Amino acid sequence: MKLLEVTDLAVQFATQDGTVYAVNGLNFALDKGQTLGIVGESGSGKSQTVLALMGLLARNGQASGQALYQGKNLLTLPASELNQIRGNRMAMIFQDPMTSLNPYLTVERQMTEVLQFHKGQDRATAKAASVRMLDAVRIPEAAKRINMYPHEFSGGMRQRVMIAMALLCEPEVLIADEPTTALDVTVQAQMLTLLRDLQRDFGTAIVLITHDLGVVAGLCDQVVVMYGGRVMEQGSAHELFKTATHPYTLGLLKAVPRMDRDDESLLAIPGAPPNMAHLPKGCPFSPRCSLADTQCQTQLATLQPMPAATHHLRACHRDSAIVSRELAHG
Ligand SMILES: Nc1ncnc2c1ncn2[C@@H]1O[C@H](COP(=O)(O)OP(=O)(O)OP(=O)(O)O)[C@@H](O)[C@H]1O
Ligand SMILES: [Mg+2]
Repeated sequence: MKLLEVTDLAVQFATQDGTVYAVNGLNFALDKGQTLGIVGESGSGKSQTVLALMGLLARNGQASGQALYQGKNLLTLPASELNQIRGNRMAMIFQDPMTSLNPYLTVERQMTEVLQFHKGQDRATAKAASVRMLDAVRIPEAAKRINMYPHEFSGGMRQRVMIAMALLCEPEVLIADEPTTALDVTVQAQMLTLLRDLQRDFGTAIVLITHDLGVVAGLCDQVVVMYGGRVMEQGSAHELFKTATHPYTLGLLKAVPRMDRDDESLLAIPGAPPNMAHLPKGCPFSPRCSLADTQCQTQLATLQPMPAATHHLRACHRDSAIVSRELAHG
């Protein structure tokens, strides 16, 4: 049995503008200690995918499909059972650190409460464990700093506190939503090393959300590339980076900074992500795709296995050889 197995996940929002189909037909499976990367531009459905798994969608949102965590469907679990899993067996680092840190409580109070609630520890035991976890994420002078309030930490240190909080109960699944976006490049690199070390030490499975394919390449076993609420390309990181052939993935790859090129060759994908309440009829990427033809504009492409690849799927009407030839990056 897989640790986490998501089948045909969909998320819809009821809005005044009509139904927003934020996530459609998403499938993935994660084993212990593995890392899955979810990549895509703003609004592609990355956060709503993981918020659905955690039972944290906004009130107007509705999830369907199946998300089995150790055989239990998270989408239909009673709140009391979900609360036992959330923050304990599955934990999340949120896109905005202040969403999950209470500004009015010291870090000590926030951390010890988690352990008292989930593990039934007394205050002293919980405090010792919390200091150890702050040490593990390399917060200097953890025993002293644990008494501080969130705003007394720098942005990078606050991110570490969040990771420490998320890891406190040694979760089996850690969901990290853009954990490095707000940080400068040096701190970003430290954070990613930290996640990798923690994964090695604790065997945690990680779902990592990012818009940066460079981050994915360094950390992930599997990759899901999303656009307009749909999966454009998906597979093992190895196969996907070797032979990415979706025009959108290739566009993202061209936007990854590389040491061997100067910044002028960094090409953002022309155009902007779609309005999710008014998606185009065919492939959502077709209005921005230089290879789109009439079929692309009128018919959705389904996710199909690549010929001769065991773990590589893509949703594109255009022949992969043509896409590679036309859009190959170098
Ligand atoms: N409560 C809501 N009501 C209506 N639409 C919503 C709601 N919450 C999110 N959406 C829509 O769902 C889509 C996907 O949002 P999501 O938060 O998953 O984007 P994302 O890929 O995480 O983007 P970012 O990189 O900016 O965080 C967006 O178009 C967003 O507008
Ligand atoms: Mg997001």
